[in-house]
Amino acid sequence: MINTKKRLYFAYGTNLNKKIFLKKYKNAKYLSKHILKNFELVFRSKYRVPDIQRKKGSSVKGIIYEIDKTTEKKLDRYEDYPKLYIKKFFNKKNKNVMYYFMKRKTPILKPAKYYLKVIKSGYRQNNYKFNFKFKVKNKIKIAVVGIGLMGSQHLKALRVSKKAKLHSIVDVNKNSIAHAKKFKVPFYRSSTELLNNNKPDAVIVATPNQFHEKHTISFLNSKIPVLLEKPISDNISKAKKIIQSSKKNKTHLLIGYHRRHNSIVTKVKKQIDSGNLGKIVAANVMCWLYKNKDWYKEKWRIKKGGGPLGINLVHDIDLICYLLGPITHVQATTSNKIRKYEVEDTAIVNFIFRSGTLCTLSVSDTIVAPYSYELTAGENPAYPITNQSAYFIGGTKGSIQFPNLKHWYNRGERSWWKPIYHKDLNIRLSRFTLINQIDHLCDVVSGKAKPKVSGNDGLQSLKIFDAILRSTKTGKKIRVN
Ligand SMILES: NC(=O)c1ccc[n+]([C@@H]2O[C@H](COP(=O)([O-])OP(=O)(O)OC[C@H]3O[C@@H](n4cnc5c(N)ncnc54)[C@H](O)[C@@H]3O)[C@@H](O)[C@H]2O)c1
Repeated sequence: MINTKKRLYFAYGTNLNKKIFLKKYKNAKYLSKHILKNFELVFRSKYRVPDIQRKKGSSVKGIIYEIDKTTEKKLDRYEDYPKLYIKKFFNKKNKNVMYYFMKRKTPILKPAKYYLKVIKSGYRQNNYKFNFKFKVKNKIKIAVVGIGLMGSQHLKALRVSKKAKLHSIVDVNKNSIAHAKKFKVPFYRSSTELLNNNKPDAVIVATPNQFHEKHTISFLNSKIPVLLEKPISDNISKAKKIIQSSKKNKTHLLIGYHRRHNSIVTKVKKQIDSGNLGKIVAANVMCWLYKNKDWYKEKWRIKKGGGPLGINLVHDIDLICYLLGPITHVQATTSNKIRKYEVEDTAIVNFIFRSGTLCTLSVSDTIVAPYSYELTAGENPAYPITNQSAYFIGGTKGSIQFPNLKHWYNRGERSWWKPIYHKDLNIRLSRFTLINQIDHLCDVVSGKAKPKVSGNDGLQSLKIFDAILRSTKTGKKIRVN
């Protein structure tokens, strides 16, 4: 007789290994074998653990245990109920049978070796034939919204990524249909149209900044992770709403400051964090370039917001914060003396970091020079590359310059009277930054990584940028809130 206070529990995956299960849950009692029809066994989450999902014609082999309340509570803890798994029931001979069912159907992954070993042994113990094959659908399906300058770069990166594949294209402009045809994917005219059809695993939003809030929130509300192009938004209050939506929906938001995915930047970050340079004292960042006459044919580029502060500086703000930590104060001065447009052609920005480090950044689009990240990192083939550096970071034990990666130091005593040496750390240029960024998005979707550039990082850059603009009006030092 089955005690009605007790529960029937259908175990699949590792828990059908009776030897392990009954040793761990002493009050549990094995009842019978059971095959659950029209379901299949899969593996998900960062732990690559078993889950089941509906599939017509398939079946999941398992066993039924009788468990008491104490055992159930213990099991709940083990299964991370109700965070990772929820409970569902089926009926067997007028009795409810409980089973665990993963709450979020994240992408299917290769099973972890340990779990597979335990399951195989469980199959043997129950005289089940271990004949199933795991179909690993590990390519994450990504839709791209907005196929302009940046969206089309993402399409190219998606083509090369081993972890992702293009799901569909969304654009208000009919010209983008040509991209959809080329990549043989569906084309939608709006995010709503996409959401009403086959949902992707993730999206890249590369629409103009003023639409970031609307598009991103619509996907987050549908629990679809978003890689949102930088800047997070065109104003701080919209940016906060985007972040709130990500939190409310418990869905990942990543911001497209792709430089953080450059292998050279990763190396520099490691050097700084390892203490090899000592305490970081100061940094000098240069963004000197020359924009040709045609660039300024577009009217918005000669008005406020269209100059090098708005276009070029934002990436540098994010990168320097990533490397040196939070900024507490900024002070900025601009000039339009050369081009004489309404917008600045040159600016000097001083940053004070919480750590005490000081940094000066100079940006100009009217200097013929190789000293900018664009012309030295080799990320974008549109810019002819030079073997120079744009970032100089100095510490009490040494300094580093990059993208032309060199580490400068004294051997023995540190002194300006002693010879200074340099090590070329890596001069291989990274053309894979956008692909790395997409692969990282896939890892986040699969639960293997946390966002490298979060919504809050995006908001912080926006706040710093806002403080810089305020400082340009008075020349005064401004505290970053
Ligand atoms: N990471 C970088 O280095 C980088 C470089 C350039 C631009 N960006 C960012 O990428 C975003 C797009 O910039 P861009 O230069 O590619 O702009 P763009 O004008 O070249 O392209 C925008 C695209 O979005 C489409 N679009 C506009 N409204 C839409 C809507 N409601 N729904 C769907 N599609 C819509 C347009 O038709 C166009 O195809 C911006 O946020 C920008 O700041 C980032």
